Amino acid sequence: MTMNRVVRLKSRPVGMVKRDDFEIADEPLPEPGEGEFRVKVEYVSLDPAMRGWISPGKSYVPPVELGAVMRSFAAGIVDQSNHPDYKPGDAVAGMLGVQHYALSKGERCFKVDPSKAPLERWIGGLGMPGQTAYFGLLEIGTPQPGETVVVSAASGAVGSLVGQIARIKGARAVGIAGGPEKCRYVVEELGFDACVDYKGGNLAEELKAACPDGIDVYFENVGGEILDAVLARMNMFGRIPVCGLISAYNSTEPVPGPVNFRSILVNRLTVRGFIVFDFQDKMAEANEKLGTWHAEGKLKMREDVREGGVDAFPDVLNLLYTGGNLGKLVLKL
Ligand SMILES: NC(=O)c1ccc[n+]([C@@H]2O[C@H](COP(=O)([O-])OP(=O)(O)OC[C@H]3O[C@@H](n4cnc5c(N)ncnc54)[C@H](OP(=O)(O)O)[C@@H]3O)[C@@H](O)[C@H]2O)c1
Repeated sequence: MTMNRVVRLKSRPVGMVKRDDFEIADEPLPEPGEGEFRVKVEYVSLDPAMRGWISPGKSYVPPVELGAVMRSFAAGIVDQSNHPDYKPGDAVAGMLGVQHYALSKGERCFKVDPSKAPLERWIGGLGMPGQTAYFGLLEIGTPQPGETVVVSAASGAVGSLVGQIARIKGARAVGIAGGPEKCRYVVEELGFDACVDYKGGNLAEELKAACPDGIDVYFENVGGEILDAVLARMNMFGRIPVCGLISAYNSTEPVPGPVNFRSILVNRLTVRGFIVFDFQDKMAEANEKLGTWHAEGKLKMREDVREGGVDAFPDVLNLLYTGGNLGKLVLKL
């Protein structure tokens, strides 16, 4: 008999997540009620924000309740439907949770076209991470031709697109990433102008060499020492879209603020945090642009697909916080 294997939150993690923080078990297959459809999930998205979703503190969404299915973006195929707009065989992506079968009423779920891109890409570069790069860079960073855009976590789901979109807009793109392999990928395969290896031990000097005219836009994904090194190189009236602060997501101690905070004053910087859903009313524009650039070969996207089903979820999630992924991290079910 087919069962649904489900990951539920058992306890709130301290530091990195552990297998014991989750209950992973077989449950009866859910049957779609009136107005619902069932999705056979094929790919689960692993996102850095998941660590925040299972923390108790105030955030932009309520935390996942203890005992609830772990929240996640996912993509799959409708296998049963009592919904007028969805039929068996439709490919969909949305908030489906870490489980093999999910019910949906169509809220926060949309149809995708697997003939245009593989299913997993609709939870990556053509999904939420792509939209994040698009809005954070273009609405807040507002790069101008000839300006220098720096992005951290440059080889990842969001960062890889930020630099490529910056180049489409005529700016210079400089990445910051961990290790020579990632930096080579960012420059040689994604086409950034330069990439600095922050693990090489010489971040400040290498950043200076890579950005001889200073930095106009810093797309912030990580925080910590990298933010401080960038603040020291910002140009007058620079912009800093604050997208993420991944270096602090597993901290068990209070995280100190930036040492170079003064740069914000002296250089009249604009620093603005954002969540991709802030731009909900412009989603169609982002999807159209990302889809067109992707079809034209101007945006390269890479998924890092891991096996192991939902049982592998805790270990695979931790790869994000140790830099173990190269590209958009997804779990294949
Ligand atoms: N605001 C929003 O709406 C929104 C939406 C989506 C994502 N985000 C944020 O965007 C950022 C990137 O997310 P993503 O999905 O694209 O993940 P990703 O970049 O594909 O993966 C995370 C990467 O972060 C880097 N990293 C991890 N720990 C680090 C540390 N201590 N110091 C420096 N770098 C570290 C690692 O790359 P290296 O090996 O290069 O260190 C790792 O591969 C995250 O901060 C995430 O929270 C925000």
